[in-house]
Amino acid sequence: VTALEWGTARIPGLGLETRALVTGGTGAIGREVALALIQLGATVGVIARSEARVGAVAAELDALGPGRAVPLAADVVDLDSMRRAADALAGDRGLDLVVNAAAVGTTAKPFHEIPEAEIDAMLAVNVKGPMIVAQACLPHLERARGAIVNVSSIAAHAAHAGHGAYGPTKAAVNRLTVQLAVDLGPAGIRANSVSPGQTPTRLRSWDEAPGGEPEVATSKVVGADGIPLRRRGELDDYVGAILFLGSAMARYITGVDIPVEGGALVAL
Ligand SMILES: NC(=O)c1ccc[n+]([C@@H]2O[C@H](COP(=O)([O-])OP(=O)(O)OC[C@H]3O[C@@H](n4cnc5c(N)ncnc54)[C@H](OP(=O)(O)O)[C@@H]3O)[C@@H](O)[C@H]2O)c1
Repeated sequence: VTALEWGTARIPGLGLETRALVTGGTGAIGREVALALIQLGATVGVIARSEARVGAVAAELDALGPGRAVPLAADVVDLDSMRRAADALAGDRGLDLVVNAAAVGTTAKPFHEIPEAEIDAMLAVNVKGPMIVAQACLPHLERARGAIVNVSSIAAHAAHAGHGAYGPTKAAVNRLTVQLAVDLGPAGIRANSVSPGQTPTRLRSWDEAPGGEPEVATSKVVGADGIPLRRRGELDDYVGAILFLGSAMARYITGVDIPVEGGALVAL
């Protein structure tokens, strides 16, 4: 798979004037989205809980400009901290794009063995999180007539055995996307989502410390044989759909989900 060069791309509506906020911006997918936006010239707020990792990733991405990375440590389940971060990034300019990539996952286990604390953590970060982020960013999105892109999962569409808490939270993300499209559309704000397939990175577990280094290639993933395009997803694969939905190319699209999974969901 060839790496995509966003620095040489021109995308209508995403460029030097763009102000974007990426939650989970220190994680595998969020960092890749932030990098692409910075290569396109945007000013990008990198949001995650670990202040040290937010600072390190923002510094690393900032050096890969022309765009700018702004480190913003915040917790997506805490409205005050998200408001402070969104206000600091938006200033008087507003926000053009909010990408919700923060989430927590878990290891597969029998449904009756899912700890209550795991259910609570997953509902909080994965479902309450995008609601709080939307509330915190609303005035700024309104000013710029901006867009929200939620990062969901194929787990919203089909059940992976043993992921009894995670899948339902992602189904809720897709439903929230539709709700936001209906409620915020009259203010000129679009809301869409992208559902990545299983990727050889590991979504960090609900009980790990914030900012832990993700282990690569340890996730329990389906074999590539069941995927029509015969390979698992790469981080680069998701960026295109996210940027498309956030750009002026999608200016009349709201309330949709784009599965990006090599056809896994349509194969028997
Ligand atoms: N990897 C996959 O196979 C896969 C497949 C389908 C969908 N997805 C979805 O893609 C998105 C990104 O996944 P990923 O694999 O890139 O995950 P990841 O590498 O584990 O990154 C998760 C990010 O979210 C942040 N985060 C977690 N809780 C937070 C909170 N309460 N407030 C603010 N930030 C928080 C983490 O930083 P801190 O810990 O420092 O807060 C980190 O930056 C998620 O929505 C996931 O559900 C992933």
